[in-house]
Amino acid sequence: MSNGSEPFELASLITAHDEGNFADAVVPPIFQTSLFTFSDYDDMIASYRGEKVRPIYTRGLNPTVRAFEEMLAKLEGAEDALGFASGMAAISSAVLSFVEPGDRIVAVKHVYPDAFRLFGTILKRMKIEVTYVDGRDEEAVAKALPGAKLFYMESPTSWVMEAHDVGALAALARQHGIVSMIDNSWASPFFQRPLTLGVDLVIHSASKYLGGHSDVVAGVIAGSKAMIARVKAEAYPYLGGKLSPFDAWLLIRGLRTLPLRMRAHETR
Ligand SMILES: Cc1ncc(COP(=O)(O)O)c(C=O)c1O
Repeated sequence: MSNGSEPFELASLITAHDEGNFADAVVPPIFQTSLFTFSDYDDMIASYRGEKVRPIYTRGLNPTVRAFEEMLAKLEGAEDALGFASGMAAISSAVLSFVEPGDRIVAVKHVYPDAFRLFGTILKRMKIEVTYVDGRDEEAVAKALPGAKLFYMESPTSWVMEAHDVGALAALARQHGIVSMIDNSWASPFFQRPLTLGVDLVIHSASKYLGGHSDVVAGVIAGSKAMIARVKAEAYPYLGGKLSPFDAWLLIRGLRTLPLRMRAHETR
């Protein structure tokens, strides 16, 4: 297994010996099931009481999805990760888990357009204000942050590809006790590991470089156990944007070639 010092070493890209992969298959099986059964009544009661962590219903826990989440968590240097049916499901669930009516979000300019539209529609209706700042201007960010609940970043940004000093911006958010999150879809964990730079939560549209074959729409978030637990408790089960087992399987295949593909993109 990876010792964490080199996230892209082969061991991180193979799930064969992970706990959920009972047959040590090189390519983990697709658990294409909605429900899981119990050996007896006591097993069922213990499972519903949460005395043991085991799959009951795929919207809650599915082994193929879990294998992808654990793999992505390793690559981002995260304690935990959570898969979603799309990047927008990941963004909306993550953001809605940390804000409530009356709150203010600070966001960098040129975030992915549908994230911008989410902020300008549903969040606006919820009386959540969004202040946009130039992420290249640390003074402007420092000025905008006091009193905000959430700092939403993307670097490089969509379409205009502005790159920001992610570590410096995360440090500003921390100084003000503000939760920071970043859409890391463009860089991927191969080029940028925001958690190691002090960001609280990383978000991906896995439909892009993580999947890598243009055959899956998916999303994922990665962060501390506490951050992921909060999203799991606040929004994820109720908004229902669960990653499917087959899409998780496609993503596991995609992640295995991520380093090769990203190196190839860089040299072109
Ligand atoms: C940077 C970025 N973030 C988020 C998204 C949304 O992801 P999805 O299309 O998987 O919902 C996209 C999609 O193009 C994207 O490019």
